[in-house]
Amino acid sequence: MATLLRPDQDFAALPELGAEVFTAPLQRPEHVGEDWLEPAQRDYGSEDHAIWDELYARQMDVLPGRAASAFLAGTQKLALGRGGVPEFARLSHELGALTGWSVVPVPMLIPDHVFFWHLANRRFPAGNFIRTRETFDYIEEPDVFHDVFGHVPMLADPVYADYMQEYGRAGWKAMRCNRLKALGSLYWYTVEFGLIMEGENLRAYGAGILSGPTEAVFALEAQSPNRIFLNVDRVMRTNYVIDDLQPTYFVIESLDDLYHQTVERDFDRLYRSLGPGFTYANTAVIDVDNVLHRGTQEYFLRGGRNSGAKPV
Ligand SMILES: [Fe+2]
Repeated sequence: MATLLRPDQDFAALPELGAEVFTAPLQRPEHVGEDWLEPAQRDYGSEDHAIWDELYARQMDVLPGRAASAFLAGTQKLALGRGGVPEFARLSHELGALTGWSVVPVPMLIPDHVFFWHLANRRFPAGNFIRTRETFDYIEEPDVFHDVFGHVPMLADPVYADYMQEYGRAGWKAMRCNRLKALGSLYWYTVEFGLIMEGENLRAYGAGILSGPTEAVFALEAQSPNRIFLNVDRVMRTNYVIDDLQPTYFVIESLDDLYHQTVERDFDRLYRSLGPGFTYANTAVIDVDNVLHRGTQEYFLRGGRNSGAKPV
């Protein structure tokens, strides 16, 4: 298997961060260690479990015919709809048998280098808390529903499982080259908001799309957003915003396509070619783009979120 790193890189223990590597400082809570893992998954009350069940039912009304088949298969294999917030231990046991991944509880936010290290070891860090009724439709911080329902089903697919591990390894390289923002764009436009062609049909595999009620319809069916075939170099130069629907989605032809485009790319050369601070606007269509749909951007021209504009 190709790798993004020198073969001598070892991720068994958390690697040392060089003094030259910048990571956003985060205050580590006293009860977690260097790995930032919570000692146990939270005890959820009946209201928490009810919120999970309602969120699950709402998404399952929208997602058949819109979510990638690998995602829907993952929700079945892992029985995410068996009732209540899934137990991470059981989930890890079942996911481990399929692809060797586990799900581990963490506080809301953990530092990039620790997140990448967990991914490199096939551990998916998932938020422990669940949203409330007040934040039922939209939360900025990912909760256990976003992390587990949105991300974990895809980890039951062997190719995607390998992609995520390689992404974690690539994170360390990006940090050392000071190109975390570029790699962050790749995560954003694949893992969070990626679309995939399945034969003639466009489907969503990104967790940000699949864990919310509006974006699955908008990403696949609305006229506003651009839909452009994935080109790793271009995506890594593309800006993104985190608090609204996306003006542009990137489309892969298959999960193998995603894996090969990223793992076989020479990221060293790519990072060297990226000028500091240079990015394309997230609405742009540029000359190298292989465009599936050129968006009208009507939703954004009308003001986007909080303007009352319809997501069309
Ligand atoms: Fe996410």
